[in-house]
Amino acid sequence: MNEMDIQTVTLERQGAVLVATVDNPPVNALSHSVRAGLVDAVEALESDPQAKALVIVCAGRTFIAGADIREFNKPLKEPRLGVLIERLDRCEKPVIAAMHGTALGGGLEIALACSYRVALESARFGLPEVKLGLLPGSGGIVRLPRLIGVEEALAMISQGNQVDAEHALETGLLDEVMADDLRAGALAFAERIVAEGGAIRRTSDLPVPTIEPGFLDAKRAEFAKKFKGLDAPQIAVDLVEMMSTTPFQEAAAREYATCKELIASPQSQALRHLFAAERAALKIDGVPAEVEPREIRTVAVAGPGVMGRGIAICFLNAGYPVVLLGKDEENLSKGVGGIRKILESGVKRGRMTQEAADEQMSHLTPTLDYADLGAVDLVVEAVTEDLATKKDVFARLDAALPDRAIIATNTSFLDIEALASSVTRPENVAGMHFFNPANVMKLLENVRAGRTAPDVLATITSVGKKIGKVPVMVGRSEGFVANRMLSKRSREAQFLLEDGATPQQIDKVLSGFGFPIGPFALADLAGMDVMAAARKARLAGMTPREQACDIVDKLAAAGRLGQKTGAGYYLYGDDRKPQPDPAVDELLAAHRAERGLPQREITDEEILERCLYAMVNEAAKIIDEGAAARPGDIDVIWTNGFGWPTHLGGPMFWANRIGLPNVKAALEKYSALVGEEYFRPANLIESLVAEGRGFYD
Ligand code: COA
Repeated sequence: MNEMDIQTVTLERQGAVLVATVDNPPVNALSHSVRAGLVDAVEALESDPQAKALVIVCAGRTFIAGADIREFNKPLKEPRLGVLIERLDRCEKPVIAAMHGTALGGGLEIALACSYRVALESARFGLPEVKLGLLPGSGGIVRLPRLIGVEEALAMISQGNQVDAEHALETGLLDEVMADDLRAGALAFAERIVAEGGAIRRTSDLPVPTIEPGFLDAKRAEFAKKFKGLDAPQIAVDLVEMMSTTPFQEAAAREYATCKELIASPQSQALRHLFAAERAALKIDGVPAEVEPREIRTVAVAGPGVMGRGIAICFLNAGYPVVLLGKDEENLSKGVGGIRKILESGVKRGRMTQEAADEQMSHLTPTLDYADLGAVDLVVEAVTEDLATKKDVFARLDAALPDRAIIATNTSFLDIEALASSVTRPENVAGMHFFNPANVMKLLENVRAGRTAPDVLATITSVGKKIGKVPVMVGRSEGFVANRMLSKRSREAQFLLEDGATPQQIDKVLSGFGFPIGPFALADLAGMDVMAAARKARLAGMTPREQACDIVDKLAAAGRLGQKTGAGYYLYGDDRKPQPDPAVDELLAAHRAERGLPQREITDEEILERCLYAMVNEAAKIIDEGAAARPGDIDVIWTNGFGWPTHLGGPMFWANRIGLPNVKAALEKYSALVGEEYFRPANLIESLVAEGRGFYD
């Protein structure tokens, strides 16, 4: 073992059974010391005549959760995982993996190379490498299908989904499940195996299961749609096909070679960046790790509109009792009905049982009376987006809530400081900005106001995680981060229409880039009335060109409200597929004529650059202003909020890869073409380029 390593594997013999305990917090990742320690354990087993079997068990919250991601960018130190796996596979005495928590990636591969696998009934199992743009490289692909069949194995390898212990027992992944005391149970299991003769079982000796003709091609087609732009799920299918026709050792070598190639691939680098960025985003500036979040037992949602309903469902789903505060009977009963409808549709789609939906409804307490908020720990305010209305609600909340209660506004663009100033305890005020539909969208922009207390910031972060969101802390800024950047992309998309592009050309370029939907098809979904109202609200702050760029208003005035009226930027038939409409071309031509704008050919490159660089430049300003703490936070926001393709790592990661000098040059080009006020490079970009640095240096 390397002298620099801390010892993370301890060995102890109990009777005929050697027990290797891995203790490498926080998740027992397969750092060098763990790999080396387990090789030592196998050697100890083989060399000790008294030892007849080995149990591998882990301390702490989980069995081995995979390779140590922090070691990926460093030179590989032997023994690599494959060497350990090979030693386990060849071992002449039985080895038993005893699993709890999450046995993931290389952790599961170790278990697959053991003779036997036992686990706690709460344990979960998975090969999540694909989520990092990787694939298992040490036997996951060559062993798992042999053990549980191709279909089950491919689902785990290509989608990275986890299975529970009950399922794992059924499929043959596990030999035994125990309710508690894993260590004692695993020891007893091992003693029994020894008593029965200590049989060895090698997964590598199992026959390759047959694959139904057409099965793999069907999976390729399915994954191309489901994992648009991602390489690893497709390569997973290729490797499963390869393992089915290749001798074990050769297949294992090819599996490893592919994994090594993938580690160096741009897609994996981007996805690993996002993994780290999501975790870094949870560390909040000015909130030391020892700051304890406040205890949240009961939540209230003020305002049972569309957003309020979705927000209430997020908390109900996570098991919180929710008080739903309405302004009048009609408003409240509509809200309750809306929540019931969403839960019922979850039942219809098989996402939850009727009992679970009923139970959640029983945790909802509708009220019109602020006096019912006396025991509430957190209120999410989601009333009408109007400062006076919100201030009025804040004043009433202030009077009704206990001193410790947090008031989090879901405002999209109002000034949070003005709201904080309207209560007696501004330190309890923050923002929790959800995205529509709130019960579906993963992103949660938490907003810190000037006086928000550190434990309030810690609380909204931990609560955000508990309700299954990806929380990112942002600061005061109009539209915060996600919408402020989106508004720049929308501006350029509109200007590009004025300059001569068509909605379908722009949508094609952006969905071709990897967004799930183009901006105009998306606007048709949201509704032109909604888009026109949003434009009206922001009109005063716009430049003269933006104010005059009223295509949205013209479409709305023509009754083209989008999908709901069968026409918007596109025409919609019964299949709801957007079709280009000559009437829109005419409307755009008339608009250009009215504005005296010449139409020119717009290249796809110009569309992409103007739409995306406008966002990157705005993000750089946001960082400069301190409204986002780091470029990685912007990447997390855009990949979770507005479908930025994950394999491109987020807008800042993408721009950084292009190189900031190139980004700056493009911004200067569009400054000259579109206007300085739209594309002047942000100070941050100027200074980083001058210093020869990138966003992450
Ligand atoms: N290698 C190194 N560090 C890891 C790690 C890994 N494979 N998996 C998690 N960690 C670290 C996280 O970065 C985090 O560190 P931090 O506290 O400094 O931010 C810490 O362990 C806790 O992880 P977190 O994800 O916040 O905890 P959780 O309880 O929500 O989830 C897991 C635990 C194991 C389910 C989750 O971390 C996970 O899915 N990890 C990745 C597993 C994986 O992909 N393995 C295959 C790698 S090829």
